[in-house]
Amino acid sequence: MTDARWTAVDQYLTEVLALSDPVLEAALTQASAAGLPQIQVAPNQGMLLHLLARAIGARNMLEIGTLGGYSTIWLARALPPAGRLITLELEPRHAEVARTNLARAGLSERVEVRVGPALQSLPRLAEEGAGPFDLVFIDADKPGTADYFAWALRLTRPGSLIIVDNVVRNGTVIDADSSDPAVQGMRRFLERLAAEPRVQATVLQIVGSKGYDGLALALVTAETNATS
Ligand code: SAH
Ligand code: DHB
Ligand code: MG
Repeated sequence: MTDARWTAVDQYLTEVLALSDPVLEAALTQASAAGLPQIQVAPNQGMLLHLLARAIGARNMLEIGTLGGYSTIWLARALPPAGRLITLELEPRHAEVARTNLARAGLSERVEVRVGPALQSLPRLAEEGAGPFDLVFIDADKPGTADYFAWALRLTRPGSLIIVDNVVRNGTVIDADSSDPAVQGMRRFLERLAAEPRVQATVLQIVGSKGYDGLALALVTAETNATS
């Protein structure tokens, strides 16, 4: 579901608020030229991620699902000089584009792109003691979301923010009998989210240039890594 006016308003907002810049535009151009799907967050959503990261003073961030590094740039730009962001990506080709885009953005020092299935990278991060992360952005394969959320809980602390993209998916999230694994994945995630006593959470529907979708925001309110 898309509405021409949603896209026009997103374009207007991006312009009037001067949300984009040459580095972000180049990241999009490069990703598109490399044939990556154009499913990155919109500029106003990127800025929302950035503002949330800044608002909580995030110094150590984790992203699951890099694509060409567009949301990564928005998040990493919120880091203080000594801050770090690790982003997990399945596809080597996507990771390569992301590394180029992050280098152009001057963020190579602060961002590490790790290639492989997130469900292999996440236990490794835990072993390494890479957490606790102040912010986790989950935006990879949708059927995996509930598992990524469980890992995010293990890798965070009270005060951390966990953000999940693509929760509403054209409203299909309400189709309990859907045969779409992405829909079932998101429903499973939302049920876990609701049952999880260690977070307070909400989901917002969003329309715009990316169609009709939504974001989940979960604030970790109680100790996580000990018991999950
Ligand atoms: N966060 C990006 C968009 C990510 S698109 C942005 O907004 O700019 C989803 C990405 O997740 C794709 O690049 C896809 O290759 C990756 N992905 C899919 N399955 C994955 C998995 N199992 N582990 C890690 N990444 C995965
Ligand atoms: C898809 C993935 C995303 O992260 C997104 O924002 C939109 C679409 C997808 O896999 O189709
Ligand atoms: Mg997404």
